[in-house]
Amino acid sequence: MQVGEYRPEDRGLLVAMYRSFDPDQRAQGIPPLHPLRLADWLEVLTEEGVNVVARCEGRVVGHAVLVPDRAGSHELAIFVHQDYQGAGIGNRLLQALLELGRARGVRHVWLTVEPWNGRAQALYRRAGFERSAADPWEEVWELELGGFRVSGPPGGTPDSGASPERSPGGW
Ligand SMILES: CC(C)(COP(=O)(O)OP(=O)(O)OC[C@H]1O[C@@H](n2cnc3c(N)ncnc32)[C@H](O)[C@@H]1OP(=O)(O)O)[C@@H](O)C(=O)NCCC(=O)NCCS
Repeated sequence: MQVGEYRPEDRGLLVAMYRSFDPDQRAQGIPPLHPLRLADWLEVLTEEGVNVVARCEGRVVGHAVLVPDRAGSHELAIFVHQDYQGAGIGNRLLQALLELGRARGVRHVWLTVEPWNGRAQALYRRAGFERSAADPWEEVWELELGGFRVSGPPGGTPDSGASPERSPGGW
């Protein structure tokens, strides 16, 4: 298994991973089910974001991304194919993504996660994320990669400057 930055030639294998992703494993409605929406979603993520993939046995089996928002912060999303979960790939992907993000000048990362997604929360906690907001349906977790905090928790009013322009979860 190898984890590295996404390359354009990974595109077909990345699409294949998401096309065979178990719909019951979707988080907050992503990845999109419809092939055209999936293609649009991946285009935005790979063109605008910092992306890493896990490659194994000729397949892409995991993907993690940091997508810039309008406030100068980045939203994180991560998926490991169901055939490969629970083997530490999520941890490796997340570490590689945060290292690459730091090298690219990313300073503040946030994400939303469902309160019942214990595996994802364990992953984020181990990487140093802290929960900053919660309601019964969604939690916000954040991590400072640099020493500078960009803004408060995302998801506020559009003119707060904290909500993302394009969100990995906003599809
Ligand atoms: C969440 C996800 C990315 C984790 O990837 P993974 O490769 O399965 O995770 P890992 O094997 O690296 O394990 C992650 C941690 O969860 C822990 N864990 C595993 N199953 C768990 C469970 N049911 N409850 C709580 N923690 C659990 C592991 O022990 C590990 O913690 P540790 O490193 O402190 O020991 C993956 O399961 C996934 O894609 N899930 C579906 C999509 C999703 O939920 N994405 C996140 C959206 S916010």
